Amino acid sequence: MPDPASPWRPCFITTPIYYVNDRPHIGHAYTSLAADVLARWRRLEGRDVFFLTGTDEHGQKVEKAAKDAGMDPQDFTDQVSQHFRDLAVTMGFSNDGFIRTTEDRHKRACAALWEKLAANGEIYLGHYEGWYAVRDEAFYGPDELTERDGVKYAPSGAPVEWVREPSYFFRLSAWADRLLKLYEDNPDFILPASRRNEVIAFVKAGLGDLSISRTSFRWGVPVPGDDAHVMYVWLDALTNYITAAGYPDDPAAFEKWWPADIHFVGKDILRFHAIYWPAFLMAAGLAPPKRVFAHGWWTNEGQKISKSLGNVIDPVALVDEFGLDPIRYFLLREVPFGQDGDFSRAALIARNNGELADTLGNLANRTLSLIQRNCEGRLPPPATVRDTDQLFIQELKVLPTEVRVRLDSQEFHLALDAIMAAARSANGYITVHAPWALKKTDPARMLEVLRHLHDALRVFATVLQPFMPTTMAKLLDQLGVPEEARGLGALSTPLPGGLVLPPPAPLFAKIEAGA
Ligand code: MSP
Repeated sequence: MPDPASPWRPCFITTPIYYVNDRPHIGHAYTSLAADVLARWRRLEGRDVFFLTGTDEHGQKVEKAAKDAGMDPQDFTDQVSQHFRDLAVTMGFSNDGFIRTTEDRHKRACAALWEKLAANGEIYLGHYEGWYAVRDEAFYGPDELTERDGVKYAPSGAPVEWVREPSYFFRLSAWADRLLKLYEDNPDFILPASRRNEVIAFVKAGLGDLSISRTSFRWGVPVPGDDAHVMYVWLDALTNYITAAGYPDDPAAFEKWWPADIHFVGKDILRFHAIYWPAFLMAAGLAPPKRVFAHGWWTNEGQKISKSLGNVIDPVALVDEFGLDPIRYFLLREVPFGQDGDFSRAALIARNNGELADTLGNLANRTLSLIQRNCEGRLPPPATVRDTDQLFIQELKVLPTEVRVRLDSQEFHLALDAIMAAARSANGYITVHAPWALKKTDPARMLEVLRHLHDALRVFATVLQPFMPTTMAKLLDQLGVPEEARGLGALSTPLPGGLVLPPPAPLFAKIEAGA
């Protein structure tokens, strides 16, 4: 069994599984991007990572979308699920697994979890009568609704309908105290802290039992022993995380990967992950996940994104237009992770031009061109640190740790902020020490300055790999860093002097403001 205290222990990172009622949009790309960056970072640390994403294919909403498309639900989900796999390729996601809830292994896991809950006396048969929003696949209390033109709406803006049918219930009400204890004992279980407080307030206000089966439609996992019912789509969907970890078929895998280190979710689905999910798990005698991080929502040029407004952002079109790495960088750089943020072309162009092209790209280009021209394209030997280098070298030394601390708490924007600050210092260093002028006056010192700058670029490229994998691979190639020396651990071993470096090529293109 892996030692839970070891920093090298396996690490299981998940995204939500996405509804296959529609094509992927920026929100899907965003949640998965954050998970991808953390997964890539953990691999750089040397950890054994399982990064999971997938599609949520059952329920009324998907059934309705299939019907509207005039298709059989399975054919429909096969088709739409593929768009999410394609998105993962377009966005450069490094997921190790992709789960679909229509797979047999998943149906077995749902049945096993249900049977365990039933055996533990956590489920009873009753009657549900109340409001349901198909768009959210969620039940709402009457006090949560607002009414316009005779139609009632959930807080999310989704219309609700009255549902009355026999239903199995999960004894959620009995879990409130144990949930509150979970939050109290694990202050980082729900991040960011503001969201944690919301969840605590919600649980303290009292939890009712939860309807976990439906009889009015068929597109779901049948309830074991009672075919008239299909499982509530959220019970089915949440179970994906343990299915993929090996439950119940592969106990060794399950022991290795579970509990998940982190579930990345949007703020709209936090309640399901931070309340229902740990309650189901604890009720089945399984450990809750270690963390649920709820990120905010994007608006488009200041407007709420919605299909009816026609302002949905297509991630594939963005990547086509601006290139993958600038988009990956922008999404995690622009907005503090956890807060809402606005997508604007002007902001994207400003980040790309000011930070990627002018700060990082320019630094790489200047340094590598100087080495090419003045050192016959060979890396100068490891350099002595002079008094005037101290400050800069110190900043570089602590950078990987600073990035690690930020990523451990999912503060992606602050990790990037720290890297950009160091890159600006490097640009300051090159200006102050003017290696081009040293060529004639002090060539030995020129070699030192260029070597320090090369070392700096190596650090930047290494820690930026999770954010911009393709461009940083190019930069590491240009820096002459061999494949096996691109992990964080390798940073403490200097590259040998004399290494022949390939000719530099620009890394980032500026985007015209009028674009
Ligand atoms: N199927 C459920 C999740 C089940 S997980 C066991 C679901 N799917 S979804 O297709 O609606 O995807 C939701 C994800 O996209 C959420 O993390 C949500 O927050 C995110 N986004 C949807 N629109 C968004 C924005 N405008 N901005 C940022 N993310 C948003 O919910």
